[in-house]
Amino acid sequence: MFRNLEVCNGGIHIKTRVKKAFKAIKGVDAILLQNSNHLDASFFYFTGIQEGLFEFASVVMRPPDKLELITYELEKEAALGGDYKLTIHKSRDGLPLVLKSLKGCKKIAINAAELKLASFRRLEKALPKVEWVDITKTLDAIRLVKDDTELEFMRRACHITSRVADDIPTMVHEGMTEKELAAEITRELLKRGSSKLAFDTIVCFGPNAAIAHHFPDDSKLKRDQFIICDFGGAVGKYASDITRTFVFGKASEKMLKMYKCVEAAQKAALDMMKEGVNGRNVHKKVEATIARLGFKGKMTHSTGHGLGIDVHDCSARIHSEVEQPLKDGMVFTVEPGVYLRGFGGVRIEDDVVVRKKGIEFLTDAKRDLIEIS
Ligand code: GLY
Ligand code: MN
Ligand code: MN
Repeated sequence: MFRNLEVCNGGIHIKTRVKKAFKAIKGVDAILLQNSNHLDASFFYFTGIQEGLFEFASVVMRPPDKLELITYELEKEAALGGDYKLTIHKSRDGLPLVLKSLKGCKKIAINAAELKLASFRRLEKALPKVEWVDITKTLDAIRLVKDDTELEFMRRACHITSRVADDIPTMVHEGMTEKELAAEITRELLKRGSSKLAFDTIVCFGPNAAIAHHFPDDSKLKRDQFIICDFGGAVGKYASDITRTFVFGKASEKMLKMYKCVEAAQKAALDMMKEGVNGRNVHKKVEATIARLGFKGKMTHSTGHGLGIDVHDCSARIHSEVEQPLKDGMVFTVEPGVYLRGFGGVRIEDDVVVRKKGIEFLTDAKRDLIEIS
């Protein structure tokens, strides 16, 4: 079903990605990406590195296709084997080697949205004559459109996540806590091949399902309640992100009405998504559908977001306040929801690739309402 991941891994063309960046970003002498204790997903996009943490590591790219990875020796093993120059430092501070690599540069591009201010101030102080250019928007635009290798990782991550979603009814029993179910889902994600969690698993019972990002607590499952599970694993650093809503016991009329409304809103979004459509209009359609079906104003978040190395990738959102033309190869979540305070909520979330004439599903777990008996 999937191509061999080793082939995929070796198939990351670092030089192609660097070339693409310099084609879009002209007139700079170098592109510098710098991790701190905050990690820049673009660092992993360009290096193709699959494991290791790489805190405080840097990447210096030079036109047309050169990449130098500068990292502390702690990460040496994880860094070996890539199609780049590898520079290892034995003392904690890599700045002297970064400065050496940037020697002679007058204009340097940085990813300002990801670079910590303290790191930037050190660079500015060390290179007072350099002109700094922020390329956040260009990097986001490049990374939003996934190549075949990235999509293969995402298909794999979404497949694992979908199978776990399908098995949730077998994990559930009366009186269990949200934390217990979250632990079970998490365990299954890792057991079935995720290298990590894309984010902390969300499980909500009953009234807690009205809180979109509720943290699982010791609430116990009772009959005839909603259960929302929102979770995702990752393969090759690429995230998946799925939400399924169940009823434990029998769904009331009101619960059915909520579920049907969200189902229709998601279908409306999926039916209109394709290259050339603006994400802003997709969100408007979702809001209109939810209003028409009786829950006006009860969705409090975006219809979806970009998905990739980061679970909220490249700051991209499908929302009426965001201009987001859809392009072939972009990956988004589509996750409408309605939330009634004190009662509960419904959210259905899938991950899709935008295509020229529609969408390709990455997640494929059952989407009909399941009443768990
Ligand atoms: N899991 C968070 C989200 O769906 O955006
Ligand atoms: Mn989610
Ligand atoms: Mn999401």
